[in-house]
Amino acid sequence: MEQQQDTTSEFGSALGLDHEQVLAVLTMAGRAPSLHNTQPWRFGLRPDAIEVVGDRDRQLSVADPAGRELRIACGAALFTLRLALIGLGIRPLVSVLPEADRPDLIATVRHGGRKSLTPELSRLRDAIPHRRTNRRPFTDVAVSSSARHAMCRAAVEEGAWLHLVTDPAQRHELGTMAREAHTRQIQDPAFSAEIATWTGHDGSRDDGVPASAGGPLPAPNQTWVTRDFTGGQASGAGSVFEDEPLIGVLSVHGDGAHEEIRAGQALQRVLLTATVHGVAVSFLSQLVEVPETRDRMRRLISGTRPPLVVLRMGHGLPAGGAPRRRVSDLTVGGATPTS
Ligand SMILES: Cc1cc2nc3c(=O)[nH]c(=O)nc-3n(C[C@H](O)[C@H](O)[C@H](O)COP(=O)(O)O)c2cc1C
Repeated sequence: MEQQQDTTSEFGSALGLDHEQVLAVLTMAGRAPSLHNTQPWRFGLRPDAIEVVGDRDRQLSVADPAGRELRIACGAALFTLRLALIGLGIRPLVSVLPEADRPDLIATVRHGGRKSLTPELSRLRDAIPHRRTNRRPFTDVAVSSSARHAMCRAAVEEGAWLHLVTDPAQRHELGTMAREAHTRQIQDPAFSAEIATWTGHDGSRDDGVPASAGGPLPAPNQTWVTRDFTGGQASGAGSVFEDEPLIGVLSVHGDGAHEEIRAGQALQRVLLTATVHGVAVSFLSQLVEVPETRDRMRRLISGTRPPLVVLRMGHGLPAGGAPRRRVSDLTVGGATPTS
């Protein structure tokens, strides 16, 4: 597709940033991951704040009826926005869910003084355009202990936990659960229709998952990678994926919107840390989308903490990217331009 370019005059300003800076930070925030690349966010521009707003029109009503994954995606966009602002020397002052009568207002970000990127945050910021969901088979090269440690620490920095499943019996049980949950989901025609609406397109849209990013068609007996995001365009018997990926389960303190937004911020910090360390990541969301499977997983892995995201990690060939909407399609309001 001939991607339409953003021009800096199409939207206003905020936080004293000039238009190029607003374009730059919102372009980075819009690079956050979201279920089926729905990009379910809007950014409200006010002179004193940037609002991150969940876009209910982009919520997946079958896979995500409660809006949990929508809030996780918005949390990921919020973390990216924070990082982008620090990159411009601004300490982001964040209020999460600041207005009780506006539940879709995920966060308000204000100017909290000056702050510079640490070397670590600088590496994370530089990784934003390079991070991708990688649905391709991984090699059997193990993820290094330094990368594991860095990803777990990234989750903790944001008030979350990344549990790495290293026990073979636990991994085997999770694999069985992933397969069962997948089978259950695709038996629901509404679920399959939703996937077909959002994935496997030819690249002519600015949202959804194009077939080129869908990865190869998994073989029918695959345990871990089961979702066909190619819109049935891949042919043949399917690819053989690794038997023993590194599985990471991200969890937070408790349930509720606040915690989901926290999980989203932690998710993006983990994913960017993975990118810095050359670790490829994809998602296994069937494990958290099917309520019974999620409950079983909570008992198996995280005890009292609700598991919110399940990641498959490893090393693989680079993955194709997914498109993004123009910043001018994401913004609401804005201060009157002065220049
Ligand atoms: C909460 C959440 C759940 C996701 N679940 C899946 C999933 O089950 N399978 C998958 O292949 N990708 C999943 N993704 C990844 C998105 O499809 C991906 O972020 C989006 O297509 C944009 O592509 P990118 O991550 O390469 O930028 C998920 C992303 C988020 C934030």
